[in-house]
Amino acid sequence: MLAIIGGSGLTQLSTLEIARREVVRTPYGEPSGALTFGRLRERPVVFLARHGYGHTIPPHLVNYRANLWALKHAKATGVISVASVGGIRDDFGPGALVVPHQIIDYTWGRKSTFFEGGDEGVHHIDFTHPYDEPLRQRILAAGVAAGEHICNGGVYAATQGPRLETAAEVNRLERDGAELVGMTGMPEAALAREIGLPYAAVNVIANYAAGRGASEKGILFDSIEVVLQDAMVRVRRVLEEVCKS
Ligand code: HPA
Repeated sequence: MLAIIGGSGLTQLSTLEIARREVVRTPYGEPSGALTFGRLRERPVVFLARHGYGHTIPPHLVNYRANLWALKHAKATGVISVASVGGIRDDFGPGALVVPHQIIDYTWGRKSTFFEGGDEGVHHIDFTHPYDEPLRQRILAAGVAAGEHICNGGVYAATQGPRLETAAEVNRLERDGAELVGMTGMPEAALAREIGLPYAAVNVIANYAAGRGASEKGILFDSIEVVLQDAMVRVRRVLEEVCKS
């Protein structure tokens, strides 16, 4: 069963036939909300809104551990993250869809491991390739089937937020090799690996990152809303194709 974690702009899946909701208690506290079980194109899926169903949880306060634990407990076999991001690369303009292949983590102070020593022990996961390649390929193939252009690969910078970056910070991210920037990719991806859930992401470019393109003078939130509304319709189509595959 596929799990979908929806971010800003995707707090529900309108085409999901909902069967039931379940509040899951975890050793790590409360997940962002109840898990929604249902069917997408006749395939079972479980959906979770990362920021809560009323979008009340900021990126640095998301209980990533509880979310991943709950999805594993619900017998998910893989996780697709949908998250909006800022584009750093010139061709990553508003509305573009990207399946990233690498991550640089700039977050701090988040609970970023299930292995805190003591009874859980010390465990170092291999994270050379942070995203699950078969799941990435499944999403890319679904994009082709849905007729939606999806860029294969991008280096995702995970920033702390909740504020957006300065123009100088985006320049630094670019010098580091980052091509898109968001606030929720980590520790989510690492926790998925730790708990044994194949994980991949569809990133929706909501805006050019600070200081880039039309964001040179500042980021306009009204235009982000419009971009996300349109893009999430396309993402849903892609997810339906993923479910068929
Ligand atoms: N930066 C970080 N996170 C984001 C952005 C951004 O420009 N846009 C959407 N999420």
